[in-house]
Amino acid sequence: MTASLVCGGAGYIGSHMVRALLERGERVIVLDDLSKGHREFVPGEAAFYRGDIGNGELLDRIFRENTVDAVFHFAAFIQVGESVLRPLEYYENNVTGVLRILESMARHEVPHIVFSSTAAVYGEPTVVPIPEDLPTAPTNPYGETKLAVEKMLRWASEAHGFTYGALRYFNACGAIEDASIGEAHNPETHLIPLILDAAIGKRKCISVFGSDYDTPDGTCIRDYVHVTDLARAHLLTLDALRRGEGNKTYNLGNGRGFSVNEVIEACRRATGRRIDVEHAPRRPGDPARLVASSERIRSELGWTPRYTSLESIVETAWRWHIKYRKA
Ligand code: UFG
Repeated sequence: MTASLVCGGAGYIGSHMVRALLERGERVIVLDDLSKGHREFVPGEAAFYRGDIGNGELLDRIFRENTVDAVFHFAAFIQVGESVLRPLEYYENNVTGVLRILESMARHEVPHIVFSSTAAVYGEPTVVPIPEDLPTAPTNPYGETKLAVEKMLRWASEAHGFTYGALRYFNACGAIEDASIGEAHNPETHLIPLILDAAIGKRKCISVFGSDYDTPDGTCIRDYVHVTDLARAHLLTLDALRRGEGNKTYNLGNGRGFSVNEVIEACRRATGRRIDVEHAPRRPGDPARLVASSERIRSELGWTPRYTSLESIVETAWRWHIKYRKA
């Protein structure tokens, strides 16, 4: 039976992908160096290799020992602010790491890869909701590395004959319904888990980064999309690649924007807890508004998010959060 290799399968989005593949009866192999991932996030049904995506010999061994027909790539550095301070580490891990994967895929004739890209490839968008054909213009090294890989995929796929999906996520959030896995970054920089930490008293309050943006309530607007909806979009993309439909680039979002204040309000409603707010300066590099048009994947593959309300997303995040933080 062919298998999928999930690089970064012990991390937040990767572990949800592993569950989605297993639920569908696929064979799954996880490669993760556990520098950020969690070994306990990987179920026993998945084969586990501990190691670095940049280790070509290890990749060759995995492709020799298993018949892999698709690679999913989640093993990237994801912090925008950190990428500005340490760009070379981002190029090393996010670009060179994928280069090693593609080299090994080419040696072993692995036919498909689904790559985790980002809304950050658009920078400060001129059109909202953002369609995939909007010119890309990243404003930080993180977005640049993801865009560099998208371009590398295009040229390498032509030369080496594999096909790829590049999925540009907007704001991934929430957790699987049974709360067995969820968002657990260290350090945590993402809005919803930080708000939930304020709700359980692990933080004094949530800092709102900028209240003077050109938006209705002055705070930044983002498109929050549930992690299991993201995983389902990957499965649909894999199916399209297996059908031979060729390379795919899709935005993945709900198509609705919510401001930081609205997210805080939704967290208050979902948790029933008091959440104090402090107003802080803008975070450098934050665009005012990022909202996806996911029309392309809807019309081509029939993907629509199942979690459409912020409350329903936050409820799943909350169930995981109180368990994880032992609150
Ligand atoms: N925010 C706050 N206070 C906080 C944390 C965040 O006000 O303590 C605000 C941010 O300024 C932003 C919004 O909440 O307006 C969302 O911030 P996140 O850090 O949760 O998410 P980003 O939109 O910055 O980042 C997301 C992904 C990143 C990815 C980026 C690409 O989580 O991994 O999109 O645009 F790099």
